[in-house]
Amino acid sequence: MGWVRVLVVGVAIGWAAVMVNRKFEEPPLPTLDPNPWWGPGEPKEDNVAITQFKINVPEKDLKDLKDRLALPLRLTPALEGTNFTYGFNSDTLSRIVTYWTKKYDWRKREALLNKYPQYKTQIEGLDIHFLRATAGDTSGGARKKGVKVVPLLLVHGWPGSVVEFYSILPLLTTPREGSSVVFEVICPSIPGYGFSQGSSKPGLGSLQTAQIFLKLMKRLGFDQFYAQGGDWGSLIVTDLATLYPHNVLGVHMNMLGGNTPTGNLKMWLGSLLPSGLLVPESDQHHLYPLSSFYSRLMLESGYAHIQATKPDTIGAVLDQNPVALATYILEKFSTWTNRDNPNKPDGGLLSKTFPFTMDSLLDNICVYWFTGSITTSVRFYAENMNKDFYNKPMNKYGYILSRQITHSSSLSFSSFNSQ
Ligand SMILES: *[C@@H]1O[C@H](CO)[C@@H](O)[C@H](O)[C@H]1NC(C)=O
Repeated sequence: MGWVRVLVVGVAIGWAAVMVNRKFEEPPLPTLDPNPWWGPGEPKEDNVAITQFKINVPEKDLKDLKDRLALPLRLTPALEGTNFTYGFNSDTLSRIVTYWTKKYDWRKREALLNKYPQYKTQIEGLDIHFLRATAGDTSGGARKKGVKVVPLLLVHGWPGSVVEFYSILPLLTTPREGSSVVFEVICPSIPGYGFSQGSSKPGLGSLQTAQIFLKLMKRLGFDQFYAQGGDWGSLIVTDLATLYPHNVLGVHMNMLGGNTPTGNLKMWLGSLLPSGLLVPESDQHHLYPLSSFYSRLMLESGYAHIQATKPDTIGAVLDQNPVALATYILEKFSTWTNRDNPNKPDGGLLSKTFPFTMDSLLDNICVYWFTGSITTSVRFYAENMNKDFYNKPMNKYGYILSRQITHSSSLSFSSFNSQ
């Protein structure tokens, strides 16, 4: 080790000690307006009725989609041999549009999407859409078998929607051999996503959404519940657990963003020190070399920068044309499913082993299209990635603080089972 390294490591360890010390001070919780009005105009009383909702796209909207899809495509041939590495490959795009036009049948898919009961209710001035998958619905009466029914809030992210939960719902709501719990699942659409109304006023980010979803669960009679989230959903359920530890029994996430000074320091130091000393041997390939870690971050995060800064510009572009919308959304499904997909001619999307069928991918795009919600959905980036957000003490060091999880999960699954 040269003396520069020794110096760097020494300074870093000193800094780490300071940071570790700070880490154990719990930042104060933010205070939220308990009763904001996100709807248009002056605040009014919410209509707290819960009304049934069925997806039923008007015939004229369906015709409008068909007309737009029938326009000749304006595509530029991809550079030779580049596959998806310059972005969406135009050959693959034209094949997908052909499928969408000739094979995909919205009315059939709509009937499938209406399989679970859906509702809307007004909260803080917004019509909030949710679907409710009742335990035992598909298995003939969980309650009779003495199985405990546990409420679970499932929260999606961007560019997703409640559509992504349809295949897991039967697994969650059907009692399993040997298990004494089964879920009653509530899947709300984030405000401004799909069938949930978007805010008319700035400032509706993840914390505010957490408050809306708590009100939703309480209105449904669930004072205490479990919560699961991915993507924005993971941030929303983290905020829920942080703000309302007595209502949230436990949290599960399928996206974790760790971005704390100590975490970063460990990562940088680990790149200088011999493998295995700070960062375990088995984790090395996730992080190192750091140059590829950071170049991947740059390569794949441009969309978030656009959406956080000019959401209405990109939103207006995508709102004009369903092919544009599909291109933008499907590129994410390609790369975020497997980081090697850009090196394949079809981005993986047309492969038999792709985890989503083309029909289910198009269902999700159709939900964004028919509800015209791409602009309101990308505004969520602007509301969450701004000074006000990062200035909240709890978010200063990035958004996942393990502390938030531990202090909310006073009741774990094992203790739940043995109750
Ligand atoms: C593009 O795909 C072909 C066929 O799978 C492959 O041989 C080639 O290496 C890929 N090129 C890039 C740049 O991904």
